Formats: sequence, C-alpha cells, structure tokens
Amino acid sequence: MRADVVTIFPAYLEPLGLSLVGRARERGTLDVRTHDLRTWTSDVHRTVDDAPYGGGPGMVMRPEPWDAALTEITSSNPGARPWVIVPTPAGAPFTQRHAERLAQQPWLVFCCGRYEGIDARVVETWADDEISIGDYVLAGGEVATLVILEAVARLLPGVLGNSDSAAQDSFSDGLLEAPVYTRPPVWKGAEVPAVLRSGDHGAVRRWRRSESLRRTLRHRPDLLAAAELSAEDHAILESAARESAARESAARESATQEAGAGPEAG
Ligand code: 6GU
Repeated sequence: MRADVVTIFPAYLEPLGLSLVGRARERGTLDVRTHDLRTWTSDVHRTVDDAPYGGGPGMVMRPEPWDAALTEITSSNPGARPWVIVPTPAGAPFTQRHAERLAQQPWLVFCCGRYEGIDARVVETWADDEISIGDYVLAGGEVATLVILEAVARLLPGVLGNSDSAAQDSFSDGLLEAPVYTRPPVWKGAEVPAVLRSGDHGAVRRWRRSESLRRTLRHRPDLLAAAELSAEDHAILESAARESAARESAARESATQEAGAGPEAG
C-alpha cells in the first residue's frame, strides 16, 4: 500500500517511522510519503490560510495550495487513482469496518487540515471520504491520520506476527476482547483465572466468550445490538445482568443502612 500525507507539519508524522508501521515501511509493505503543503504555495510568506467568508473565529485553509498538491501527487502514478481522505471532526465515525475497507485500497492520500478546516470546495472536489476518529476536537488532522494509518497498517498482509491476532481483536466480531494474563501465575496475591491454566481449550474458549460478553455489556452495551449472539451468549448476558442488578441492590441496601446508622452512631 502507498499512503501520501499532506500537512503543514510533516514532523507530526515522524512516529510512522517506529514500531509496527515503521517495520512495514522497511519491508516495503507500506510506502508512506509525507509532503509539506507549503511546497505548493507561490507567495513569499508561503500562506496557506485566510479569513472565513461569513465571519467567525479562526482561519480557513485556502483552496489553491491543496489543489496544486493533490493534482501533483495524484498524477505521480499514471493509471492509478488514490482514495482521498480528509480527517475532520465533521466526518463519518472511524470504525474497524472502515479500517478493513481502507486496507483493501492500494493507495491512500490524507489531507491534514489545521485551523477551522479546509475550504469546502477542495473537499467536494477531491475527497472520497471524510473521517472523524471520535467525538472530541483535535487541533488538526495529523493525529487522526496517525490513528487511521496505524489501524489500517496492522491489517495489511504480513504486518502482524501472528495472522490470527487481527481476527481476534476487539470489534472484529463486534465485541470487546476478554482480559489477558501472563506469568507470574500469582502476582501481589492476585491469581490468573484457573481455567486459563487448565489446558482445556474448550473451557478457555467459553470463558473468553463469556468475559467478552460481560465486558461489552459493562463498557459498550450499544455494541450488543449489532453482535451475532447465540442462545448461550444470551444466557450469559442475562446472568451477567442479574448479577449486576444484585450488586446494585446490595450497594443500595448498604448505603441505606449507613444513612440510617449515621445519626445514632454520631
Ligand atoms: Cl479527524 N480531526 C480533528 N481536527 N479533530 C478530530 C478528528 C479529526 N476526529 C475527531 N476529532
């Protein structure tokens, strides 16, 4: 896969030389090229921004440098057309499904906006995808590009050591992953669950499924609606819900008792 990143802060993308993505680049699985948007300015001040029409705070990125950059970059590989991504908090939410689709593309181009964003005409003309990495606002698209590229790179063939680990990730089956443990078997008095040391692969699989369901119920109940669940899964979720209702009622009970005991004790 080839990935071009256009930014006014090329140094922001330096982490792409490290770890998993860095190794994928060394091995030729991933060809990342970062470009300084100011290369495509023509004035002495290398201006990339201007005031927004209609007023309001901040600055907007001017269309001309972006159009020149994208025209040059996209024509550098005749016969091929890249998939152009504009990371923006106003984009569609980035998910593992999205990462899987992007990993099928031979060539991605990321347009990192700063300030209040890029002139909308550039986005309409060039973008195949506007992507948000979550419901919060970053100072620019660079960190979002790092996030998206890392999620995509680890799905490329040969990038992960163990080809199974991508298939077992949180989200790949619509659920969060079960907790993981390594040695020592007892650490600060806390034991690794016995089932994981039992050697019973069926029992391990069932325990992981159950933990996965319980974690998803606790942290991301919204994911359960779309997950494919067996009758056994539903039974596990029902008993988890009963257990948590029992815990809540016990907590309420003890809070009531404390409130009642308070004045007498004082
Ligand atoms: Cl892609 N960009 C910016 N600036 N902020 C974000 C974002 C992207 N996704 C979430 N917040």
